[in-house]
This record gives sequence, C-alpha cells and structure tokens, in this order.
Amino acid sequence: MTRYRTYPDLKIGNSHIRPRRLRQNEQIRALVQENSLQKSDLIYPMFISEKGTKKYDIPSLPGISRIPFDDLLHEIQEIQNLGIKGIMLFPVVDPSVKDPTGKESYNPNGLMQNSIRKIKENFPNILIFVDVALDPYTTHGHDGITNDAGYVLNDETVEALCKQSLSYASCGVDFVCPSDMMDGRIGAIRSALDKEGYIGTSILAYSAKFASAFYGPFREAVSSGARGLDKKTYQLNPSNSREAVKEALLDIEEGADMVMIKPGLPYLDIVTKVKNEVHIPVTIYQVSGEYALLKNAALHNLIDEKAAVYETLISMKRAGADLIITYYAKWVCENIL
Ligand code: PBG
Repeated sequence: MTRYRTYPDLKIGNSHIRPRRLRQNEQIRALVQENSLQKSDLIYPMFISEKGTKKYDIPSLPGISRIPFDDLLHEIQEIQNLGIKGIMLFPVVDPSVKDPTGKESYNPNGLMQNSIRKIKENFPNILIFVDVALDPYTTHGHDGITNDAGYVLNDETVEALCKQSLSYASCGVDFVCPSDMMDGRIGAIRSALDKEGYIGTSILAYSAKFASAFYGPFREAVSSGARGLDKKTYQLNPSNSREAVKEALLDIEEGADMVMIKPGLPYLDIVTKVKNEVHIPVTIYQVSGEYALLKNAALHNLIDEKAAVYETLISMKRAGADLIITYYAKWVCENIL
C-alpha cells in the first residue's frame, strides 16, 4: 500500500479503517479467504444407458455423454482417479420397458440395479447417490403415477417410490435421493428401509425442488418427456421461499439425513434460508440448464470458463451449501482444483 499522498489534507473516509489492506497481495488474500472449494464438495451426475448401446454425446450438454453399461467401470475409474468421492446415477432405459406406472424402477434386474451392483463390486469406496422418482421409467414423463386427467397421485406414487428405494438399497446404494416432491415420502421411505433392515442406507431429500425451466437439457439426456412438461402440481413455485424452508424442515422431521435445494444459482437465497434453519448438510444441485448456459458461453468465448465456473461454485459454498452436485465436477477437478 502506498505511503505517499498527493493531497495530505484530503479526508478519505475514516483513514484508520482501510479494508483494502487485507487485499493487497495474494498471500494476505489467501489468509483471509472465507470459503473454499474442494474435490470432496463435488458429486458427479451420470447418465447410464442400456447394455449394448453406444456412448452418446448429449447435444444440449456439451462434454457430457450417456455412458453405456459396458463402459461403466472405465468411467468410474476415471472419476475416482480425479479424486471425486460421489456419483449420482440416472438411467436411460430402453423405451420398451416404460409404462404409465414406472414399474421398471423396481425391476431387480433393471439397468439401475445392475449398474449399482456392478459399481459397488468393483469400486466399493465410491459413494453412490441414486435419484428416486419414476420419470425415467414412465411413458408420460411425470415423476409419479397419474390419474386419467394426468394429475400425479400422491400416495400411490409414494408406495412405488418405497419399492424403488428398497430395490436400490438391496443393491448397495449409499444414498437414495427422492426427487419427486410427493408429500410424506421421506417418512414412508425411511420406515420401509428400516423395516427391511437397511438402517445404514441414507436419504438425501430433494426438499426444495422448484418447477424450473433449467431442467430442459436433463429431460433430453434421459428422454424423460418434453422440455416444457408441467410439473407445477408437485414442484415448488419459483416465487416462493417460505414453503421451501417448510419442506426442508418436514423432510428432516421425517428422517432425511441431508437436504437439497435445486436448481442452484437462481435459488441461493433459499440455500441461505434453509442453512440458517437446519443442522444437517445442505446440498445444492447445479442443474443441466445452468451447466448448459456456462458451457455454451465458454464455447462462444464470451466468458473465461475457469473463472466463471469457480465463481459460480464458490457462490454456492458462500450461500451455505456443503455439497454441490454438478456436471462440471470432472472438468473442475481436471482444470481448477
Ligand atoms: C426428475 C429429475 C429432474 C432432474 C433431476 N431429477 C428433472 C425434472 O424434475 O423434470 C433435473 C436435473 C437437471 O436438470 O440437471 N426426477
């Protein structure tokens, strides 16, 4: 900091207090940095396709592919080598196994079940998170079972989600992650798991999942219905924050081990509000549309990708997120951390 002043009599604020002192060089800045990003903060979402399929690059998510069942171990090895501790799995099932009730979700020999077993057998230390909802398995693309009018039926869906969760738990998954937004599903799933002896299987609840336009690329990635499919009767209204906190508290009361806010960047205020109310880890999901925005801006040379991605992820930590699920996980480990 300069010791010379051209105008010694000029009054500049309170000259004793100069916050810039702590910004004057890299060492001091590092010393006073409040938040940091670590590899262990990141969970990598993966799309898995059926045996015999080919690796498919997802056009709306540049850099992200559907990984065929047969290439799974190779991909997991790469992820583990990068230092990533957790993966979140999504199935891209053959259209022929879809039906209106999504019963393929609890087929003991389904794509997800076979994948979980295969990964756990070969990589027992990688943590597996699995999305629990019916949308990858239903013909209509909704997360649950509908009536004739297309309304998602709550209690019938919760029953199916319990079967799905038990099926995944029996394959050795570490976290079941209900993303359906049905009422009472966390309590029901916890009871079902405990009753069958899966007391060590944890629940990461998608507690505050908003009805968002940012899921568009994901729906293409798993072929789970139209980009604009309306899920407003179960996902939260983006205008609201009170009910997001209420949902998180309810899920904790029902037995959730961790809660999630989704999407990420447009909902950082929700993350902070929830964080202030709960005493368990808070997770954020940087969803497909958020990734696509950043990636496309970078591909068009509009932003410095490393700086912009880091800034986005650290904003999530600053808001209160303990963990971040992001399609950028591998890239960040390769290029930033
Ligand atoms: C569905 C589910 C969705 C995502 C995760 N689980 C989409 C939806 O609700 O339609 C979106 C994730 C993303 O956009 O990356 N149960």
